Amino acid sequence: MKKTPKKPAILEKNMRFVDRVLLLSLPMALIFIFMVAAKILNAPMAVIAYGTCVIFNVIFLFPMTHELQQLRQYITALSRHQNISDAQLVLEENDAKEIVNAVNAMHKFWSEKTDLLEAQTLSDTAVLDSLPDPLMMINAKGIICGANLAACNMFGTKIREKSIDTVISSNNFIEAVNRLLQGDSESESLIFYISKPIDQKLYAHIKKLPYVSQESALAVISIYDLTKAMKIEKMQSDFVANASHELRTPLAIISGFIETLQTSAKNDKKAQEKFLAIMKDQTEYMSALIENLLSLSKIELMQDNLPEGKTDLRKVAEDVADALAQKAESRKTSVQLLIDDDIPEITADYNQIKQVIQNLTDNAIKYGTPNSDIAIKISRADSIPTTPNLKTQSGPAVMIAVNNQGPKISDENLARLTERFYRMQEHKDKNIKGTGLGLSIVKQIIIRHRGNLTVQSNAYKGTTFTVYLPISFD
Ligand SMILES: Nc1ncnc2c1ncn2[C@@H]1O[C@H](COP(=O)(O)OP(=O)(O)O)[C@@H](O)[C@H]1O
Ligand SMILES: [Mg+2]
Repeated sequence: MKKTPKKPAILEKNMRFVDRVLLLSLPMALIFIFMVAAKILNAPMAVIAYGTCVIFNVIFLFPMTHELQQLRQYITALSRHQNISDAQLVLEENDAKEIVNAVNAMHKFWSEKTDLLEAQTLSDTAVLDSLPDPLMMINAKGIICGANLAACNMFGTKIREKSIDTVISSNNFIEAVNRLLQGDSESESLIFYISKPIDQKLYAHIKKLPYVSQESALAVISIYDLTKAMKIEKMQSDFVANASHELRTPLAIISGFIETLQTSAKNDKKAQEKFLAIMKDQTEYMSALIENLLSLSKIELMQDNLPEGKTDLRKVAEDVADALAQKAESRKTSVQLLIDDDIPEITADYNQIKQVIQNLTDNAIKYGTPNSDIAIKISRADSIPTTPNLKTQSGPAVMIAVNNQGPKISDENLARLTERFYRMQEHKDKNIKGTGLGLSIVKQIIIRHRGNLTVQSNAYKGTTFTVYLPISFD
């Protein structure tokens, strides 16, 4: 439906239309003045003729001016991204319609280009943000013009627009950046240290980008944190040193006794029996140690795979109680099972969960007060308690609490119980057998299951190790 053209407000106010009509009528006015002066026309006729000219000009100019005004408003609205449909335009002139079509085509072309660029930028940002290592871009003045999420996490969220030397103050690093900015090199690689926000050893690779403009990125800086790798290396070498030390001690004892048996105790039956018993103990210790070390390395190999099987915790607890019944009896204790009825099957590795409960119950028997009961209590939990730097599963969980009576464990000892090879001095002094690896194995299995472990110890309630495990994974 064709709408009647609405008179744009702008026409009512400005004088441009009147000016144009008068200007267009000016030559005729001069001709009529000349004709009156030359007495070709009398004055009233000249005024009438001039008036006719003005009316003719008004009729001719009005639609053109009106369409021009509409075009101007339409294009202004487009440039401001305001939504004006071209159906609202009422244009009579073909030229004006063609201008609108051309402007529309141009606007569509650039809009599509802008949308494409925006989508590309968003996906580039998402890719850069998903990288685990920091990445920064600097321009020719050394100002950071881009930084991914890892860089913001390491150096602060407000690093964009800052000069790189205010963010990383290492002299070696700044010198390398300057060499690149001054055109003395195309790429630099170096190891450097920073003390803020924390002490870190970092490796940086700085690479020049093709020149685009003064303001665009001139170089990209990728950073790798070597601190973590160094810590892991140290942990591994400490582990090897500890394991060798733990094996060397019983070996030395055994070889010492062999020598004694071959020499001074050669004919001493009583001494021989005593020494052979000690040697047996030491070999048992060595095989327990090797078994624990193998378990630990096997668990570490699986650490990145989530468990898949279904596990019935009641069955695990019953299996463990049966397996340890004799050992419990030898300490004049028994293992009580307190299992709630609503415990669902959980997604977990049956054998590993059995090892967790077995190690905790074995400790409870070994280190708990003789003649007192040990309890394994299984119930549901709303969620798993969180600990910094530990990935725990959200959602409903189960808790397995293993309790024994016994003296309070000091806070210093509590903090170190899950360290590899750590054993409390009082237990070493009492010659209670152990490798110091049982709780490290427990901890690694719980980490793999995205659960958590808490320990409470006091003189009245004894010691309780509580394992939290998720019912299932996302
Ligand atoms: N229930 C417990 N009560 C008191 N101390 C415990 C208990 N469980 C573990 N510990 C202490 O933690 C240490 C580490 O335990 P673990 O890793 O199982 O090694 P192991 O039992 O082979 O010594 C033990 O040597 C002991 O000193
Ligand atoms: Mg143990």
